[in-house]
Amino acid sequence: MLDIVFLNGSFLPRDQALHSVDERGIYFADGVYEVVRYFNGQAFTLDEHLQRMKRSLDGIDLVFDADPLGSISDDLVRRNGLKEARVYWQVTRGPAPRNHVIDPSIEPTVYLYADPAEPLAQDAELPTISAVTAFDDRWHNCWIKSLMLLPNTLAKTRAAAKGAGEAIFVRDGRVTEGSSTNVFAVFDGELYTHPADRFILEGITRNVAIELAGHLGIPVHERAFRSSDLMSAEEVFITGTGTLLAAVAEVDGNQVAGGQAGPITQQIWRAFVDRVDAP
Ligand code: PDD
Repeated sequence: MLDIVFLNGSFLPRDQALHSVDERGIYFADGVYEVVRYFNGQAFTLDEHLQRMKRSLDGIDLVFDADPLGSISDDLVRRNGLKEARVYWQVTRGPAPRNHVIDPSIEPTVYLYADPAEPLAQDAELPTISAVTAFDDRWHNCWIKSLMLLPNTLAKTRAAAKGAGEAIFVRDGRVTEGSSTNVFAVFDGELYTHPADRFILEGITRNVAIELAGHLGIPVHERAFRSSDLMSAEEVFITGTGTLLAAVAEVDGNQVAGGQAGPITQQIWRAFVDRVDAP
């Protein structure tokens, strides 16, 4: 299999792509990233990813022109001979001797790779997962898609150890988001999800789901709900570039929605598949 990556201006085989040991991305998780899904050779919601990348870069005071990332990403997918892919974009501050104070003259490190993905068939079934709740001990700038993901990776690993597919973060009794997804719940036939403030990442798949729900006439409230209400939710689902959309059938060992994907989740899933098919 071809495995060409992009590093600092060059396309090269992955095993020849090397970072400096003095990379601030390693010392301080000093960097930001995006994950972009390609369906049938086309980047899905490319502009939204570019705009979020720019906001994240601004959020950590990293001066870098993100505009070329779209065409580099397209080129990378083509060079790897892929049609279905997940492309990872990472911009870190760059190499410099370890020092908390950021030297603005450091050259950023730009790294992209493309992983093959499964095509999304028109009749694709909605995946179903179980989840566990986890204490949300992250910083208050979750809107930045930062590399500082240790709370997320620990929560998801601990969830996996319990056989669950996602950890749902809870802050002050309210559901914020998943470790790598956004969380939605249905109460009285209406959809609720945490507002896009500093306590969550404003997911691009989340925003597509909100838009599709609007087209379907399903009322949507960007309002936080309590984790104690998860059990009484009619439906719960998660969204993200990796997962796309998955119904949550169980939380902390208790069944949600009779352990099945509910009708609103199904409707949004079908609309999502259609949207991918005819963007
Ligand atoms: N994660 N919330 C968090 C904390 C995330 O890390 C992600 C994405 C999302 C969903 O955002 P989007 O719909 O734009 O992918 C929400 C990526 C896929 C990852 O870390 O691999």
